[in-house]
Amino acid sequence: MCLAIAAGAAIPATLLQRAREEAARVPNPFEGDAGARRAGAKLYARECSACHGANREGRGKAPPLNRPEIYKTPAGTLYWILRNGALRQGMPSFAHLPEPRRWQIITYLRAGGPDTSH
Ligand code: HEC
Repeated sequence: MCLAIAAGAAIPATLLQRAREEAARVPNPFEGDAGARRAGAKLYARECSACHGANREGRGKAPPLNRPEIYKTPAGTLYWILRNGALRQGMPSFAHLPEPRRWQIITYLRAGGPDTSH
């Protein structure tokens, strides 16, 4: 009985909220690192550009990623997106890439990239 009350009362609404906040707080070990940004640009070209466009301009259902909204998205949130994808919407999971590779891509995404930072 106690279990039922505890589960019903405390967990559902706050777990979602907590998960979202926890994900956003995970720090990028390469934040602001120029080498990681360059490595991320190469990985982007290989893994993402077919759908999101060579200059992140977007294509078809894949939204543009060269938007201030993306630059300002917490690294941990982007990490969550890369790990989980949105399979039914056509965004694959990149959980198969080693973690440092995913953070390099995120460093590139948040830095703006060659098309905006030169
Ligand atoms: C097979 C095509 C495809 C590939 C490859 C792909 N994406 Fe996506 N991506 C999508 C689609 C489609 C969506 C929109 C999903 C939705 O609306 O829920 C999306 C959404 C996103 C979003 C959320 C954008 C927003 O404004 O909501 C991010 C960030 C993202 N992708 C990053 C990447 C990165 C980084 C890579 C490479 C590691 C990548 N994607 C590779 C198709 C792709």
